[in-house]
Amino acid sequence: MSPAPSAERHLERAEEWLEDASLEDILKFVWESFGNRACLGTSFQPGGTVILHQALRLGFRFPVFTLDTGLLFDETLALKNQLERRLGIEIESVRPARSVAEQAEDVGPALWNRDPHLCCFLRKVEPMRARLASADAWITGLRRDQSRERASIQIAEEYQPDPGSARRITKFHPLARWTREDVQAYLARYDLPQNPLLARGYRSIGCQPCTRPVANPDADERAGRWSGFDKTECGIHTFVAENI
Ligand code: ADX
Ligand code: SF4
Repeated sequence: MSPAPSAERHLERAEEWLEDASLEDILKFVWESFGNRACLGTSFQPGGTVILHQALRLGFRFPVFTLDTGLLFDETLALKNQLERRLGIEIESVRPARSVAEQAEDVGPALWNRDPHLCCFLRKVEPMRARLASADAWITGLRRDQSRERASIQIAEEYQPDPGSARRITKFHPLARWTREDVQAYLARYDLPQNPLLARGYRSIGCQPCTRPVANPDADERAGRWSGFDKTECGIHTFVAENI
């Protein structure tokens, strides 16, 4: 493989190289380009754990955060603590401006049952925008094999965190080419923990009210999220048309 393009080179010129690069090389490129101005967001699903573990093995201390909506499963919060202990790091919990109880006072109870788009906007999209205001790059665990919507993601994409501002950052999907099996093999190799709900029929895990187990083992990985609604994405990956 040819050597990595220098950090100064424009992203467009790196695109071809990134498409064939290994996870290690992509993370090295991000670290050399952005240092700790690149942040890693995880929902403690298997892909996020792979990236986090590999980055730490390589000595790249990206700030790590999770969007804690106040509606995560207890199992997810326990996994956060477990990973913090195992990897010796602290994971920032990014929270919405209003608690779940305060949101109920504002717009009524169980907004997720009536308007999940608004609920995700208040509890995920707005806090994400606030977090990304101090970042120049965002690393995610998205993969092309997860769903039809995600099949066309690039390893690196220009991204507009806030539609109200022209500011652009770079979004990296270092696992874009990985499969579910690749991720599982990595976790097994390093004996890394995963959410116990995955062994109980859940295929993708988000907030408790909007995540269901899936009976069909061949279903899309994101089946079971917002079932009953015409909704497949929470909105953090879809702020501008060119992204996904
Ligand atoms: S999503 O629809 O909830 O965004 P998914 O759970 O498949 O999708 O996560 C895809 C990627 O989005 C994760 O790898 C992670 O980078 C980011 N992400 C999703 N949820 C969170 C969260 N709660 N906190 C931080 N990042 C998240
Ligand atoms: Fe609200 Fe459900 Fe979105 Fe969580 S996933 S923020 S509960 S609508």
